[in-house]
Amino acid sequence: MKVIQCKDYDAVSQQAANEVEALLRQRPDAVLGLATGSTPIGLYEALVERHRQNGLDFSRVTTFNLDEYYPISPQNDQSYHFFMWKHLFGSVNIDPQRVHIPKGDAEDPDAACLAYEEALAAAGGIDLQILGIGNNGHIAFNEPAEYLRAATHRAQLTEDTIEANARFFDRPEDVPREAISMGMGSILKARRILLLACGEKKRRAVEEMLSGKITTQLPASFLNLHPDAILITDLEL
Ligand code: PGA
Repeated sequence: MKVIQCKDYDAVSQQAANEVEALLRQRPDAVLGLATGSTPIGLYEALVERHRQNGLDFSRVTTFNLDEYYPISPQNDQSYHFFMWKHLFGSVNIDPQRVHIPKGDAEDPDAACLAYEEALAAAGGIDLQILGIGNNGHIAFNEPAEYLRAATHRAQLTEDTIEANARFFDRPEDVPREAISMGMGSILKARRILLLACGEKKRRAVEEMLSGKITTQLPASFLNLHPDAILITDLEL
């Protein structure tokens, strides 16, 4: 995996925005895979800035988000749907018809998972996938486990992740315990992957991933199998 080391969070965000911008200038109808969480917020701010200042155009871009809590309404301000409109989609000229986020309010979540994989395939796959990494090495909601799932699926969150997410909810009982998540196969099919990892909390997971040992106990380690995965980090490794 290629590693780009940056001096701080802002530099990581700008570097990631450079990659996205280069792709969109070359291919205005690119398919982007997008992530939520605190890490990509700086990237999304940079993209909004470039849209406003330099006319970076999202009108023909298609997006697929990695995951969404289940069950959750898209109107809930803790949903990933809400997050994406707040931090990116609401401030750029994206066509809402080209935005895909797993449906946290799907009546039949299994059918929604299948439909998501079909939509990914119909769009021709992801050109550039943005990823964060969990403190426990998870990627999207592919949590450390005895086995991982290849395709979009309904995922049980681990206690670690529920705890890490608790800061976003008023009451512990409101923290979702399930999600709909792209699988490791859906992610690894992306033609290029940018993994953003910032802060000391991520050091253990990043170092274990870079050791090159592949284990389902550290889902991010599977990124070592990808021919064009780039880690952008502020960690001195
Ligand atoms: P974070 O989450 O960006 O909020 O650290 C990343 C993740 O859990 O994948």
